[in-house]
Amino acid sequence: MKMLITGGAGFIGSAFIRYMLKKHPDYEYVCLDCLTYAGNIKNIEFALNMPGFRFACGSISDKDYVDALFEKEKFDVVVNFAAESHVDRSIKNPDLVVETNVMGTLTLLNAARKYEVKRFHQISTDEVYGDLPLDRPDLFFTEETPIRTSSPYSSSKAGADLLALAFYRTYGLPVTVSRCSNNYGPRQFPEKLIPLMIAKALRDEPLPVYGEGLNVRDWLYVDDHCKAVDLIISNGKPGEIYNVGGHNEKQNIEVVKTVLDRLGKPYGLIEHVADRAGHDLRYAIDPSKISAQLGWEPETDFETGIASTIDWYIENRSWTDDILSGEYLKYNEKAAEKYA
Ligand code: NAD
Ligand code: DAU
Repeated sequence: MKMLITGGAGFIGSAFIRYMLKKHPDYEYVCLDCLTYAGNIKNIEFALNMPGFRFACGSISDKDYVDALFEKEKFDVVVNFAAESHVDRSIKNPDLVVETNVMGTLTLLNAARKYEVKRFHQISTDEVYGDLPLDRPDLFFTEETPIRTSSPYSSSKAGADLLALAFYRTYGLPVTVSRCSNNYGPRQFPEKLIPLMIAKALRDEPLPVYGEGLNVRDWLYVDDHCKAVDLIISNGKPGEIYNVGGHNEKQNIEVVKTVLDRLGKPYGLIEHVADRAGHDLRYAIDPSKISAQLGWEPETDFETGIASTIDWYIENRSWTDDILSGEYLKYNEKAAEKYA
């Protein structure tokens, strides 16, 4: 079994590589990642010299590179994590999310079809469903909820998700899609809520909470997402969509206060700032399909997961420091040359 994992130098992709190397050490893996600002070669340093693992520094949008890679490696399975993943950046620069998330995914789908891969798994997001009202806690996203996106990011992810499903329907490519809620855990880039708040609090800097902080996100520990993806690849049915989430809704302000409590820092560090444009109110996943059909259940509750995540950022402070100082770009550049 040979698996292509795109975007494997990022937060979830690198956790997935860790998870899979442990769970299926007999598979062969190629990680394709072009090391954007969000990629970090240190995230997968442990794997670089492992037999059965190879890093390829290239873009999913580079048709010639992708084609040559597929021709050479003859992948059985492709898992596409690669994306521009930050909503705020997509609001500032909508062109790049379309280029990477839509056109890059199309490039991979074309290659997967040409080289007849046995499974193409698209990592999508719950954001394709838009948002739910704050005053209707009885409502959840199911796989039948209509696509109704809000931001350039979620629109581009919906485009990729629907293209993947179109390749199943039109060409018979064995595609599966997962739509997961917000992940948290080690090695998340410090622009996303939890690692940003930890980094700011550790430095006694103001914590920027958008608006009143009443928006709700449904948090899932990253390894539980990895486990779901592995199950879908092994036992999921081509053409199917699987929602992934652990019924763990929190208001942003609650999450920020949890971070401050764990770090022993005062709530006075919280600074309410201008709201995000088009800010989605509430995400909440109904995971009953993946639970009933594939037996998936989250293993890490929020209290345990958030405590160990905060501890990881304290114990590995140099990981964030290197990003904030720009030092990580130097080792990424070296890796880009070595693994071109
Ligand atoms: P991330 O930003 O941490 O990592 C993205 C990775 O993709 C980086 O390593 C980056 O270098 C790479 N990349 C970007 N453009 C590329 C290109 N053109 N070619 C090759 N590699 C490229 O993102 P993440 O948070 O790990 O998210 C991974 C995937 O999961 C994304 O598709 C995202 O939409 C999806 N997702 C994320 C969450 C979440 O909470 N973080 C939840 C649901 C779904
Ligand atoms: O739901 C899945 C999605 O979750 C993924 O598809 C995205 O890739 C991922 O980035 C995440 O999107 P969000 O926009 O929900 O995540 P973010 O961490 O950017 O923000 C979480 C919430 O916190 C959101 O309501 C905005 C708020 N926020 C965020 C930042 C960065 C703040 O209040 N202040 C901040 O500085």
